Amino acid sequence: MQSNSNLTNVIIERIKANPQQRITFAEYMDMALYHPESGYYSTQALNLGKSGDFFTSVHLGADFGEMLAVQFAQIWQILGKPTPFTLVEMGAGQGHLAKDILNYLQQKHEDLFTGLEYIIVEKSASLRKLQQQSLDNFREKIKQELNQELNHNVKLRWCNLEEIEDSSVVGCFFSNELVDAFPVHQVILSAGKLKEIYIGLPEKSHIPDAKDSPDFVEIIDEPSTLKLSEYFRLDEIDISNYPDQYRSEVNLAAIDWLTLLSKKLQRGYILTIDYGYPAIRYYNPRRNQGTLQCYYQHKRHDNPYILVGQQDITTHVDFTALERWGECCGLDKVGFTQQALFLMSLGLGERISSLSESKLPLLEMLRRRDSLHQLLDPLGVGGFGVLVQSKGLSIAEAAESLTGFVIPE
Ligand SMILES: C[S@@+](CC[C@H](N)C(=O)[O-])C[C@H]1O[C@@H](n2cnc3c(N)ncnc32)[C@H](O)[C@@H]1O
Repeated sequence: MQSNSNLTNVIIERIKANPQQRITFAEYMDMALYHPESGYYSTQALNLGKSGDFFTSVHLGADFGEMLAVQFAQIWQILGKPTPFTLVEMGAGQGHLAKDILNYLQQKHEDLFTGLEYIIVEKSASLRKLQQQSLDNFREKIKQELNQELNHNVKLRWCNLEEIEDSSVVGCFFSNELVDAFPVHQVILSAGKLKEIYIGLPEKSHIPDAKDSPDFVEIIDEPSTLKLSEYFRLDEIDISNYPDQYRSEVNLAAIDWLTLLSKKLQRGYILTIDYGYPAIRYYNPRRNQGTLQCYYQHKRHDNPYILVGQQDITTHVDFTALERWGECCGLDKVGFTQQALFLMSLGLGERISSLSESKLPLLEMLRRRDSLHQLLDPLGVGGFGVLVQSKGLSIAEAAESLTGFVIPE
């Protein structure tokens, strides 16, 4: 499979249009993933899952969404059963998670469901369309089952984060594997100084050297923004003593995103699930090539300059930066744990043990057991980080432990 040549040309034109004949890696990654016509999330991500380039917890069945719904139901209780109670899902993929959560809440928490407002924030227009189709089918099913319009019971809408009114959300913002998909800046240490890696075009006389790309070269120069060094100060990471050529990435988009969420949230929680580390592990001097990875048909490699628009590009999440920046924005850390522990607290153990009594056909039972075990796998999604932050809670509300952080007996 080749790079998408249209997209490669668009990026080349963007570089040529820049007075310095270069763009940041974040601009490059943004186009490769999100260009409206040819970016990865516009063209390739429609069949994420076992047959796509990668799968997420959502693709392991409805259990993940149902257990999150258990957590949301408790959050609703803690917040005093507000109406509306707003759930904002950011980066909703094919819409499976929304469907699993809505289904569960409609069946098990009718009172919550009646006052629920469910908002989806999705950057990719193609995925938004897919989500709308998938949830339309779900609406139709509910309509037939209950002989009533889901619309009458739940307000479901799509919008940009910016369109949500400031200080309007009482409820929970949440995401699964969103932040790892944000475009990042790439940085490198040169003679004790922080530099940035830009993307330029090979000169005709030069052999291209951007990780063996025929189209692009990497250019090292002064950082495009002071925010890059400020980010390391926020993390309390002093990389000036790190080995020369130490290379990593900085997710400034995650910081901006959190700033926006903190403005929109009036009272409630932000739940972020993703693969990542605390800063001390993320920026370990031995991790000297960062965490950037590309996925193409379940194969992983580290060259973002090939298969342009055909492959996913992703980095791990720096949870320390989210926590610390959250504090700067008035968000309190509620807890940070691993997904396996979080889901065990939300009933994953009971789900596994109840399987032996289930009336499922054997093959289906084995498949489901395998999926539930995958949710626990510490080397897979079970090892993901779960960060919960809160804002605007009363002392009594803040004193309530979230079920996901209570260790089961
Ligand atoms: C790795 S996929 C995860 C999809 C889904 N949450 C799941 O777990 O299967 C990342 C999703 O985030 C979306 N996305 C990326 N950046 C976004 C942004 N800034 N705002 C909203 N959605 C975004 C992508 O289009 C895609 O739907």
